Amino acid sequence: MSSESIPVIAIDGPSGTGKGSLGVRLARTLGWHFLDSGALYRTLGWLAMQEAVVFDDVVRLAHLAARLVVEFRDAAPGSGEMRVMCRGEDVTRSIRSEACAHAASQIAALPAIRAALLAQQRSFRQPPGLVADGRDMGTAVFADATLKIYLSASPEERAERRYKQLKDQGVNVNLRDLLDGILERDARDSARGASPLRAAPDAVIIDTTRLDLGAVFERVIYLLDARERRAGKNQ
Ligand code: DC
Repeated sequence: MSSESIPVIAIDGPSGTGKGSLGVRLARTLGWHFLDSGALYRTLGWLAMQEAVVFDDVVRLAHLAARLVVEFRDAAPGSGEMRVMCRGEDVTRSIRSEACAHAASQIAALPAIRAALLAQQRSFRQPPGLVADGRDMGTAVFADATLKIYLSASPEERAERRYKQLKDQGVNVNLRDLLDGILERDARDSARGASPLRAAPDAVIIDTTRLDLGAVFERVIYLLDARERRAGKNQ
């Protein structure tokens, strides 16, 4: 089976739109692989901070990126929870910090870093299929994806979701600071020259501001079925 014939669902959009939860649910339901590409950028950011590499030292960052080995492991069979491992360490919690989000967004703007992570992301395309979540899944990494979804939601709603998530984890944060961080990262991710955050022309845009995960999931399954029916008719 050639890599191009393995189906891919690409899910893009800014943070806090529910890409990860949707992606995990789709992958579990379909029995497909799942790629959280943001976790790669976050882990690279974490490594850079560990090694005191400044975020504009492209040469050292590219060196780190070329050797980056990130392993995704099931936390427990069937739990749908993923553990992210790097250099023998469980970095699942660490890479979700605001510091790592900031580092990832800065590093992700560098074309050399995006290029260095491309092959690693594409290697996740394995039978029977892949659900990939990120910013450029449908526009660059898997431009030939079977189905492209772009999730959006208002920045206020996304900050509120993140606030609740952190509160539940016992982390004390300020809603205004979260909103400012989101707006800053959105601006950087959208304005960068290399694979900026934007919907592919053939992506289906879903605004999740007032939709729960179940409703978004049903919509995507419907779209996938419709696409498969259409592909079947054209054969
Ligand atoms: O999805 P996330 O919040 O974990 O991503 C963290 C950062 O990584 C985000 O600011 C943008 C960047 N990123 C990217 O540029 N391209 C991707 N495919 C995934 C993430």
